[in-house]
Parts: sequence; C-alpha cells; structure tokens
Amino acid sequence: MIFNGSTSIGAVTAIVQLVNFIVLPLSKLGIEMNNKKAGEAAIRSLNQLLAKIHKPKDTSNYHILKKFEKDIKFTNVNFSYPQQGKLGKRVLTNINLRIEKGKKYALVGMSGSGKTTLLRLLMRYYQLGRNSSISIDDVNINTIELSSLYQLINIVQQEVYIFNNSLGYNITLGKSFTKQELNYAINRSGLRRLVESNAKGIEMDVGENGKEISGGQKQRILIARALIRKTPILLLDEATSSLDQKNTIAIENTILGIEDLTAIVVTHKLNPNLLKKYDAVIFMKDGSVTEQGSYERLIEQKGDLYNLCSLTAN
Ligand SMILES: Nc1ncnc2c1ncn2[C@@H]1O[C@H](COP(=O)(O)OP(=O)(O)O)[C@@H](O)[C@H]1O
Ligand SMILES: [Mg+2]
Repeated sequence: MIFNGSTSIGAVTAIVQLVNFIVLPLSKLGIEMNNKKAGEAAIRSLNQLLAKIHKPKDTSNYHILKKFEKDIKFTNVNFSYPQQGKLGKRVLTNINLRIEKGKKYALVGMSGSGKTTLLRLLMRYYQLGRNSSISIDDVNINTIELSSLYQLINIVQQEVYIFNNSLGYNITLGKSFTKQELNYAINRSGLRRLVESNAKGIEMDVGENGKEISGGQKQRILIARALIRKTPILLLDEATSSLDQKNTIAIENTILGIEDLTAIVVTHKLNPNLLKKYDAVIFMKDGSVTEQGSYERLIEQKGDLYNLCSLTAN
C-alpha cells in the first residue's frame, strides 16, 4: 500500500504502535485472569478452613464484648498441639494467671518454654480442652464472637507481612482513619523519621514485602498497625527482636506509656531498666509459669529470672 501510494510509512508505524496498546494489555489480561482464579481458589480454601476452625457450635450462647473492663484469666490451662489425629506432647501445664486491665506484663523464659503458645491460645488460634479456660471479663473466650474478640486483642508477631503498597496503606490496611490517628500511630511507633526522610512521605512505596525498608522499619509498621486500631489489649511476641537496643527501648517505653492499654510483651532481651517498668514479670519454664511478680522482687528471691538474667549478662 505504501508503494502504490495509498498509505504512508508514518501511518504504518502508527498502526503498529497502536495495535501494541491493544494486544499487550489483552495478553496481560490472560495472565492476570489466571492469577485471579488461583487467588480465588486460595481464598475459598482459606475460608473453608476458617469456617471449620471457628464455626460456633451454638450461636445462641455467643457473646459480643464491646469493651474490656476488668481482667483476663487463664484457669488450669493445659495444652498440647494437635498432631495428625492425636495430641502431641504437653506444651503448657496448669497455667493460672490473672492479667489486669491497664497493666503491663513482660513474659520471659527460655526459647521453647511456651510463651508464644500461651498468646496463641488467648488469640484462639487453637481450641482449649474441657478443663482449661481463658476468659475475658469472666466470659470464656470460646463463646466470644471472633470479630469481637479481635476488636479487643491485637498481636504483633515476629513474622512480618508487608504489602507492596504505600507506607500509609501498610499501616491502615485500607481502613479509613483520620489524619490525627495516622499521625499518632506514626509518631508512637517511631516511623516519623522514615516519613520525613523521603519526598513522598506516607505515600512512599515500601516495595515487594517491604524490600525498600529495613527489618526494624517493617517491625515498626506492624506496631503502628496495632496502635492505630487502639485495641485495649496488645500482645507483642518478640516484636522488637530485630530492632537495636535504642529502638527496642523506645518502642517498649511507648507501650508502657499508653495508660489504658493492657499489654503482654514477650521479650528475650532482659534489660533491667525496662523490666523494672513493667507491673509484673511472668516467667515461664518448660510450659509452666514458675514465677510472677515485680522485677525487683523476682531478682531478690534469686530464682529462675535471676538465673536467666545472670546467664545472659555474662
Ligand atoms: N505449631 C506447633 N506444633 C507443634 N509443636 C509446637 C508448635 N509450635 C510450638 N510447638 C512446641 O511447643 C513448645 C513451646 O513453643 P513456643 O510456644 O513457641 O515457645 P516460646 O515462644 O517460649 O519459644 C516447643 O516445644 C515447641 O517445639
Ligand atoms: Mg516464641
């Protein structure tokens, strides 16, 4: 057509380019449709699993707790992880604890002593046996509606999942919060410097699983996520383990300073100056709580905490 003059080279070039705008998105659509299908299947399996775990046997007896007013009680808590149809070895033995509203607890003990398991049970990740119970304001957690339970309790764990999105999104997770609330979470979690050090501020991209930011900054995002939700009970499971001393102290001080917050902080950094600030230290050993009380008192009695502290000090 160019040779017989019915079109020009420019027109052909333009056509080729314009066709690309149609063909490339179309071929991409195929790939994305596949991803969407795979995602849907994964969500379906996940929902089936969740429904199985959390299906209330009797909804008439279900409680919705709007507020946390008094305490959390662990009563005769015994637990083994279920393993292929039978129960594995005993992981928690006869735990009795009372966590009072507004107080801060440090949960310490050697690795494998059952600290994480204890928090998981409070989050109801596993079902407790008949003679064991955990209650919030005297309501057995098994009878608390799950979404209502998660409006009371939030957990920050070691494993961090960061979405390939902005810093702000990773804190709010798409929920709407006021600017003040977002600023509160950013300041309290120690993210202010990161926000101010880049041109895009809270709109900055954190990259695929947060590859643009440090481990400590990811950890702080998780803490900000928890703080912005203002759940009255906060559990931290070695959440500061990837932070340096200075940042650990800053974050723990933040949590200790939030008046109404009830917090259980699992920590393996035994910093006396920090431990002193907790209302109580709970010491776990081989699945049992062997000591609880103020840091000073436990050190004075020269028991398990004293031994672990002198072990790690040397
Ligand atoms: N998902 C699981 N399945 C089976 N056993 C587990 C599981 N998670 C932890 N355990 C076991 O339970 C015990 C307590 O572990 P954990 O609660 O993680 O202790 P800690 O947090 O104090 O290090 C350990 O012996 C550990 O091997
Ligand atoms: Mg643990």
